[in-house]
Amino acid sequence: LAAGSGAANAMVSEAITTESLPAITILFGSETGNAQGLAQLAAERAQRLGFQANVANMADFRKSDLKKVDNLMVVVSTHGEGDPPDPAEEFYALMHGRKAPALKGKRFTVLALGDSSYENFCQTGHDFDARLEALGAERIYPCVDCDVDFDDPASDWIDAVLECFGKLTGAQPRPSNVVAFSSRSAEKTTWSRKNPYPATVLENIVLNGRGSSKETRHIELSIEDSGLTFEPGDSLGVVPQNNPVYVERLVETLGLQADTAVAAGDDRASLHAALTQSYEITTITRPFLERYAALTESNALQALLREEAKTDLRQYIHGRHILDVIQDYPVKGLAAEDFIGTLRKLPPRLYSIASSHRVAPDEVHLTVAAVRYHSHGLNREGVASTFLADRIVEGETVPVYVDSNPNFRLPTDPQTPIIMVGPGTGVAPFRAFLAEREELGAAGRNWLFFGDRNFLSDFLYQIEWLNWRKRGLLTRIDVAFSRDQAEKVYVQHRMRENARELYAWLEEGASFYVCGDGEGMAHDVHQALLDIVREQGGLSDDQALDYVRRLQKEKRYQKDVY
Ligand code: 2AM
Repeated sequence: LAAGSGAANAMVSEAITTESLPAITILFGSETGNAQGLAQLAAERAQRLGFQANVANMADFRKSDLKKVDNLMVVVSTHGEGDPPDPAEEFYALMHGRKAPALKGKRFTVLALGDSSYENFCQTGHDFDARLEALGAERIYPCVDCDVDFDDPASDWIDAVLECFGKLTGAQPRPSNVVAFSSRSAEKTTWSRKNPYPATVLENIVLNGRGSSKETRHIELSIEDSGLTFEPGDSLGVVPQNNPVYVERLVETLGLQADTAVAAGDDRASLHAALTQSYEITTITRPFLERYAALTESNALQALLREEAKTDLRQYIHGRHILDVIQDYPVKGLAAEDFIGTLRKLPPRLYSIASSHRVAPDEVHLTVAAVRYHSHGLNREGVASTFLADRIVEGETVPVYVDSNPNFRLPTDPQTPIIMVGPGTGVAPFRAFLAEREELGAAGRNWLFFGDRNFLSDFLYQIEWLNWRKRGLLTRIDVAFSRDQAEKVYVQHRMRENARELYAWLEEGASFYVCGDGEGMAHDVHQALLDIVREQGGLSDDQALDYVRRLQKEKRYQKDVY
């Protein structure tokens, strides 16, 4: 009897909650899933605090939906040159166009995600923040910018914003939930960016043949006993360490002692350890320059940071590292702690996973191009790629976590044909796609476009593709080796050469995937796709645009670009 009445009470309180609780809508614009994850987290906390929380995706949010909202939390990331996430493009355009709704009487706040190594850091968030106010909504909390290390500032923003909304709406924490979820500890604890799993390196080999101008590695990591799982399309976050040679050069140039104790995350460590493990010491970001400039008396550096000097600043940063800044604009008697205060945390790097969890549940495979180049008189290298290539040997461990990417997924229907465009390391997730489809016995046809520099040395995973081709899993493979002839041949040229067939596949319901370089390649492939549907479908420019937009909406055109 007692249990029965308890259940009845619970039902009554549920019925009350959904009707009378103050409602908050958490609207996210997400490309790789970070903004989506944070929106989900905000909703969980809001519910505990006595709100009715609705999570909404900009990808399918309309003007009429917005009109129904009184309290709005926006979480949105910025990509490339200050662009909104692809799935949020249309909503962004609506909000910034003439048909945007008036929003008087509504309350809002914005969390802007981004990467401060890009010039237009958090631009999309700033745009929404300004625009929502211009449309008449009331900003209840200032827009907060988050760099790649977003967990703490995002979490603080959620708490502060919910407190504001609580005061404004009189929301009351739900008594039954306060006990059960008295702290954030109730949130899932698993391997994460903050608590990565030490994965043992099983194999670390160079895929390129002799004489190649590239160094692309195939790395196999053991995740046995970790409990980690992933889907094809997910990425692996790798927590790297800086090259100790760079650290030593930096410490020497600064005239500091390597063993000085400094802050390192929540702990203290020697300057050498902190610079190796905790802070980014190569990439120059604007916030770094601003903090560093505040320590120098250099007018030249201050001048470079003026709004009018953007082009000069861009030119200066190009090909340079933090070490160059310190040499070019030295500070006399700089304290170790003050220098540390100018740096951002060393962000983890994401690599598209090249293996299928279904096929090899104890392993994760990565395809990593070692970044090495020469600029401004020095040999330079990328942090994580050379950490993996040079500083980790088989048997050692690498701290990793799975970064799920809900926007890069195989079709749910195994019959659906897929077209994959993945030059260079961009081919990695397609190795996972094919392995998965073979394991599942998926009947859909598979077409791969691959490109790299030279056929003889750079045909990554050649034997595997050819075996899959023989077994009939890979229906077609078209390759573009850019440097085997005088003129460049790229994947998009191969697409154009096969325009008729490619269009036929799309008309038959195929999904189209692009992975790899986001600056040049993905843009050129997008243009090729537009041209192909325009020409083959006999469409106008606008109709071709609509066709491709529809593919995106139906999740039949997905990108994983970096
Ligand atoms: P390149 O280095 O000869 O210019 C993988 O890196 C392959 O992608 C290489 O063959 C590279 O050619 C090619 N690539 C470079 N820029 C590209 C672009 N804008 N579109 C397509 N492929 C490109």
